[in-house]
Amino acid sequence: MKHQDIAKAVKNSRFPKSIFIGYYVALLLLSGVHIGLLLGVEEARFNDILIIIVLMSYWALVAGGLTLYTRQQVRKTYELPMIRLADAAAKIAKGDFSVRVEPINEHEKFDYLDYMIEDFNKMTAELGSIETLRVDFFSNVSHEIKTPIAVIQNSAELLKKPGLSEETRQEYVETITNAAKRLNTLITNILKLNKLEKQSITPNVTEFDLCDQLVQSALMFESVWEKKNIEFEADIADERKMITADAELLPLVWNNLLSNAFKFTESGGTVTLREYSGNGKVIVEVEDNGCGMDEKTRKHIFDKFYQGDTSHSTEGNGLGLALALRVLQLSDGEIDVQSEQGKGTKFIVTMNI
Ligand SMILES: Nc1ncnc2c1ncn2[C@@H]1O[C@H](COP(=O)(O)OP(=O)(O)O)[C@@H](O)[C@H]1O
Ligand SMILES: [Mg+2]
Repeated sequence: MKHQDIAKAVKNSRFPKSIFIGYYVALLLLSGVHIGLLLGVEEARFNDILIIIVLMSYWALVAGGLTLYTRQQVRKTYELPMIRLADAAAKIAKGDFSVRVEPINEHEKFDYLDYMIEDFNKMTAELGSIETLRVDFFSNVSHEIKTPIAVIQNSAELLKKPGLSEETRQEYVETITNAAKRLNTLITNILKLNKLEKQSITPNVTEFDLCDQLVQSALMFESVWEKKNIEFEADIADERKMITADAELLPLVWNNLLSNAFKFTESGGTVTLREYSGNGKVIVEVEDNGCGMDEKTRKHIFDKFYQGDTSHSTEGNGLGLALALRVLQLSDGEIDVQSEQGKGTKFIVTMNI
C-alpha cells in the first residue's frame, strides 16, 4: 500500500478522539466533585487548614490517577509495540531474517502502526528470500560449472593415452563437445536471467501473430519427437491471434515448456500444444502424459537451478522455468501448473490480449 493510501485507509487512530473527549468529561466531572466537596466542608464548618488539606488530597489523588492512567496508556498503545519493533530491527541488523512482529489489532481494526508492522514483516521476508537466493545461487552456479569442467578434464586425460581406437577417440571428443555446449548454455542462461532480473531488458513490445510463433517454436522440436517416438498434437483454435508483447522474449517460454514436455515424456507418449482465447485473454497450454511431478517438486520448479527429476539433470540446468516465469512477469502474463506423478503435466500460460 502506498503512503497516501495508508493515510486514507487508516481510520483507526492509535490515540482516538474519544480518549481526549473522555479526559475532558472526566475532568469536568471531577471539578464537579471539587465543588461538591467545597460545599460539604463549608457546611461542616471545617477550619481553613482542614479545607485546604481535604481539597489538596482530593486533587493529589485525581492528578496521580490521571498521570498513572496516561502513562499506562502511552506505554501500552505506543511504547511496547515500538520496543517490539526495535527488538526485531536489531535482530535483522544482525542477519536474522526469521523474525516477525505480531500486529496489535485484528485486521479490520488495523491502524498505521499495524500497517507499518505488516510492511516491516514483508520487507524482512523479502530480504530473507533474497539472502537465501544469493547464497544458493553461488553454490548452485559453482556446482553446475564444476561438473562439466570435470567431465572435460577427465576425457582430455583419457584422450592423452596412446593407441586409442578411432571410435573411442570420437567418443571422448563427443563427450568434451557436449560438456562444453552445456557450459555454454549454462552461462548464456545465467546471463539472460541476470539481465531479465535487473530489468535491463525492457520488453520490446510489437504486435505479432502468436499462433504463428507457437507453430514455429513447435517445429524446432520435430526431430526430437520423431527420434523419441512421441506423438505431438497442435490444437490451435485461432487462425491468427495478434498480441502485443515482446516477440523475442516469449519464445523462451514456449521453447522451455515444450523442451520440458518432450524431456519428461517417455517414448510412445503424447505432447499437446493448445491455444485458445476469450474474454480478452489468450491461453496457451503445454500438456504431456509423461512422468509428472510430486507436490514438493511442483512447489520449487520455478526456483533457479531447481531440478526435480535428477535422471535428466544433465540435459538441463534448472533455469528454464525460472526464465519462463520472469519473461511472463515482464509480459504481464501468468503461468500455472497442474501435475500428477506418473500421469503427466500441464502448464497453462495466460496472457492479456
Ligand atoms: N513437463 C514436465 N514434467 C515433469 N516435470 C517437469 C516438467 N517440466 C518441468 N518439470 C520439473 O521442473 C524442473 C525444473 O524445470 P526447468 O526449470 O525447465 O529446468 P530443467 O529443464 O533444466 O530441469 C525439472 O527438473 C523437472 O523436475
Ligand atoms: Mg527445462
